[in-house]
Amino acid sequence: MAISQSFVEELKSRIEIEELIGGYVKLRRQGSNLSGLCPFHSEKTPSFTVFVGSQSYYCFGCHAGGDAITFVRAIEHLDYVEAVKVLADRAGMTVPEEQRDKESAVRRADLLELNRIAARWFHEQLRASPDAIRYLVGRGLQEKTIVHFGLGYAPPEWDGLLKHLKQQGFSEPDIRRAGLAAVSKQGSYYDYFRNRVMFPIIDVRGKVIGFGGRVTDDSKPKYLNSPDTPVFKKSQSLFSLCNAKGTGGERLILAEGYLDVISLWQAGFPEAVATLGTALTGEQSRLMARYAKEIVIAYDMDDAGRRASLRASDLLTAAGLKVRMLQLDGAKDPDEYLRVHGADRLHAQLNRAENFVEYKLSRAAEKLDLTKSDGKVAYLREAAVILADLQSPIERDVYAGHVAAQLGVEKENLLIEVRRLRRSYAKKAQQQELTQQERQLKTGVGRLNPEKARNLRASRAEEGILCLLFDHPDYFDEMRQALSPDDFVTAFNRRVLVAFEEAIARGDRPDLASLTEDFSVEEIGAVQGILLGRDRFAGTREELRELIETLDGCRRRGDIREISMDEQALRSYLHSMADKK
Ligand code: UTP
Ligand code: MN
Repeated sequence: MAISQSFVEELKSRIEIEELIGGYVKLRRQGSNLSGLCPFHSEKTPSFTVFVGSQSYYCFGCHAGGDAITFVRAIEHLDYVEAVKVLADRAGMTVPEEQRDKESAVRRADLLELNRIAARWFHEQLRASPDAIRYLVGRGLQEKTIVHFGLGYAPPEWDGLLKHLKQQGFSEPDIRRAGLAAVSKQGSYYDYFRNRVMFPIIDVRGKVIGFGGRVTDDSKPKYLNSPDTPVFKKSQSLFSLCNAKGTGGERLILAEGYLDVISLWQAGFPEAVATLGTALTGEQSRLMARYAKEIVIAYDMDDAGRRASLRASDLLTAAGLKVRMLQLDGAKDPDEYLRVHGADRLHAQLNRAENFVEYKLSRAAEKLDLTKSDGKVAYLREAAVILADLQSPIERDVYAGHVAAQLGVEKENLLIEVRRLRRSYAKKAQQQELTQQERQLKTGVGRLNPEKARNLRASRAEEGILCLLFDHPDYFDEMRQALSPDDFVTAFNRRVLVAFEEAIARGDRPDLASLTEDFSVEEIGAVQGILLGRDRFAGTREELRELIETLDGCRRRGDIREISMDEQALRSYLHSMADKK
């Protein structure tokens, strides 16, 4: 392990997990613990718990769990060393330089450096390519905008960037790992981006993590984006968030494309962001929720854009954001609207943007004839469905009033229908959450410890042993005389035992932090799930002996199904050899 356990312990003692997590999740006190809506999966009733006493957390819905370090890894998508650094910053400590895990940090640093050098090179190529400049200027971009976004150009040759990066000492496989080269069937490397204007994608810390590239003619595909790499996950990144996050306002504009965002920035709307060639994800929604309270969706005005808006609004609402919809009359997207009508009109239009309820109601009314009874009934039905989605009773009341007045009917009748729908939704949601929990029990934990299902008794005994050792490291010697990690039946529990053993050998207490970077955040969640079973035990040596016996019994009775005949034969052979000595 690269960062010393004593440093990590000191660090953890300076962090209050309830305060750390409270910065991301609204927590309510529940007895001695706190609970809230899980930030790692979407849910309506809280199954996420922060245990103040043990400074850990666990979600009973999706089985995410761990300590402060695991939380930062999971929520910020960082690796172990980076998470320790973030927490160290927060606690005013410095990670000792030489103790850092060089390898993974250096790898990421290399990929970021490759992207940075590539962005510079693309930019230099643009300066030397009048045609590419003409294209961008033709799209209405000013020089300061081109410079601000660091736009570039990838020339048509097959190895321009490759040559440049190799000259700087980078290897072809690393260049490919950064998403900047591809490999042909014959095994030779070539530039991933060719003959495209280039849009660097920059994260909130100002690092170039990937690129989008657009053709300058009608060829296909119109846009090409960097593949996902260790430093770039399309589903978790937003174009121009680095510009938008500091704009001070509470509003972000969500557009579809690179050029929409860039035109908006140029016209004085730096709060615009876009997804990167994929539909909006929950992760992106939660990311936006960290920087804003309200999102104005400014998607294209075609059918695809409208459908995407509806989907996006649900995700954004679930992330706790207010959503409004921008209407662009006489233009297909914000880029075109700005060119046709200018920034002032757009500004007015932004302030006039309907909130999502109004938008949905007007869309529903649009296709119906409200002067006829059929149309009225159909509209009331749709309105009830729209209102039933609203969490606030005040909002439901206000909009029910609007609709009722619009049609000349009683508000109360509409509200009765809304309440009926809400009751049936609540029932369905409850059932869904239950089945989701069951499924995750099967897939989540089952995937991490696939042997458990077939060896339930043995693996439960193993988990009990881990629980007892966690609270009583002084039992370790006794356990070790009766049992070695090899006697553990399931490989996952065995890995946990070995990690505990290593911690104890160093003179530390076993701790979630002793699992460190050898365990993924999902795996640490599974361990946290196991350790929550500690309250089954009184914590006596007698219990430990019983568990060891149970495990022993399982193995003797041949309960262990996954050991193949060959391995069993090998074991008895080894035993007989040992007897002969
Ligand atoms: P659009 O085709 O609407 O792009 O796709 P745009 O930005 O308005 O492009 P221009 O104005 O024609 O240059 C919207 C977004 O969808 C992604 C890109 O992120 C683009 O910005 N996209 C589109 C792709 O990833 N691949 C494609 O082939 C097309
Ligand atoms: Mn477009």
